[in-house]
Amino acid sequence: MDYKVVVIGSGPGGYVAAIRCAQLGFKTAIIEKYPTLGGTCLNVGCIPSKALLDSSEHFYNAGHTFEEHGIEISKPKANLTQMIKRKAGVVKANVDGIAFLMKKNKIDVFTGVGSFVDKHTIKITAVDGKERTITTEKVIVATGSKPTPLPFAPFDKKRIISSTEALELKEIPKHLIVIGGGVIGMELGSVYARIGSKVTVVEFLENLIPTMDGSLGKELQKVAKKLGMDVYLGHKVTAVENKGKEVVVKAEDKGGKQLELKGDYCLVSIGRRPYTEGLGLEKIGIETVKGQIPVDDHLKTSVDNIYAIGDVVRGAMLAHKAEEEGILVAEQLAGQKPHINYNLIPGVVYTWPEVASVGQTEEQLKQSGRAYKVGNFPYKALGRARASMDTDGFVKILADKNTDEILGVHIIGARAADMIAAGVVAMEYRASAEDISRMSHAHPTYMEAVKEACLAATANRPIHM
Ligand code: FAD
Ligand code: NAI
Repeated sequence: MDYKVVVIGSGPGGYVAAIRCAQLGFKTAIIEKYPTLGGTCLNVGCIPSKALLDSSEHFYNAGHTFEEHGIEISKPKANLTQMIKRKAGVVKANVDGIAFLMKKNKIDVFTGVGSFVDKHTIKITAVDGKERTITTEKVIVATGSKPTPLPFAPFDKKRIISSTEALELKEIPKHLIVIGGGVIGMELGSVYARIGSKVTVVEFLENLIPTMDGSLGKELQKVAKKLGMDVYLGHKVTAVENKGKEVVVKAEDKGGKQLELKGDYCLVSIGRRPYTEGLGLEKIGIETVKGQIPVDDHLKTSVDNIYAIGDVVRGAMLAHKAEEEGILVAEQLAGQKPHINYNLIPGVVYTWPEVASVGQTEEQLKQSGRAYKVGNFPYKALGRARASMDTDGFVKILADKNTDEILGVHIIGARAADMIAAGVVAMEYRASAEDISRMSHAHPTYMEAVKEACLAATANRPIHM
């Protein structure tokens, strides 16, 4: 065999798996069809979206909060071309970093589409059509996902766009219609709302970011309204039509009431689907189920030397989940016994304020019948939040009614994305709400809201409320 492990796909699942395999002493290769490494996350996902979120946030603050802070400037002007140029620089620094890590770890990188010839032989087809094959003992499939189109309105990439095009627009939309009020819709909707677009979100379900604790979506809706976004919940989109310079979206609510919206761009963000095209799974007898590659608890497919990780398998489509799975497979191949606690994979929405969540939602606890208690603490009661004028949001702690064990941490508020790590640590160590409430938290910090929410959950006695 040429290699001990070949990884197909270089997103956060694939490149992290490759690095861990190399660290463990395996001769490793990685195959990526695009010329840059890093997959969706680094090229058209996590990193570029956060770059634009940060730029648009600075712009928004310059126009909305600087004056109050005592900073006088003339009216700021948004330069989308420069924002996108800066974003491209951030992406380049990150993807170059992955190329460096591949070299450092002596991982062979092949550029081209990887496909199975048999379970130990992979063909690599370059853009110019040139083919070569390599042999390997084990394969890790990490081919990720692609945006899901509406069945009746495929992406035309001009007016009806996915997140990929929304990260590369040449002009600030006058009216951006967003279909799907999930993570992408709210993040990229915020970017454009902050820099001057009218943004309308049409969501099928009755809440924004509906997979998270219900209270978070409700608060996010208030925040979106403050930003000037219009939100239509409980609306089923029935038609989307590119009319040249405008796009027309038709939807109806549960009672059949019709809605017609006209905009210049329509971002369709209704989820992503696993990507396995061109892999040749049929050659080795792997059948996908709802597009996903079925795997067991060890991320092994139905073929004994082939594993699959990340967005192409079940579970949350998140970069850090893909990374953990890459490490798990590599360490298993080395005979170790790694473990992933899927209940404690945090979810974050990088709006401002940020939304972050780990563990069970109140809806899940209700459904499971487990007795629980709730502790809430609002940001507006926090000295730190007043100082920075970030008073929107709250921390919500869910704890077992009898044992006080923390079962869920749900935050919407400034810096929630970083704070949620404390929730993960607490829950990994099975802390009780009282444990956290008795630990000293630096003052003044946003984390004091977590301590206060734990006090509220434990004994209904927050200090500052
Ligand atoms: P991917 O990153 O999709 O990588 C798969 C790679 O495989 C791709 O490079 C693809 O070209 C390659 N490939 C596919 N088939 C082949 C083949 N046959 N041969 C060779 N190469 C192949 N997640 C977060 O956790 N945090 C965020 O903030 C976040 N923001 C996001 C923002 C946006 C706009 C989007 C779209 C996604 C975001 N995500 C975020 C989700 C995150 O990007 C994915 O969960 C993550 O990239 C999945 O990693 P992966 O390794 O499974 O697949
Ligand atoms: P999503 O699953 O977060 O949201 C899709 C939304 O569209 C849901 O609210 C759903 O109810 C709604 N929807 C579905 N069909 C619809 C229809 N026909 N009409 C109207 N609404 C409809 O998916 P999204 O935002 O596309 O993101 C894809 C994936 O990428 C997510 O799984 C997410 O985990 C990942 N991602 C993660 C980010 C992060 O971690 N910060 C950022 C962006 C994406």
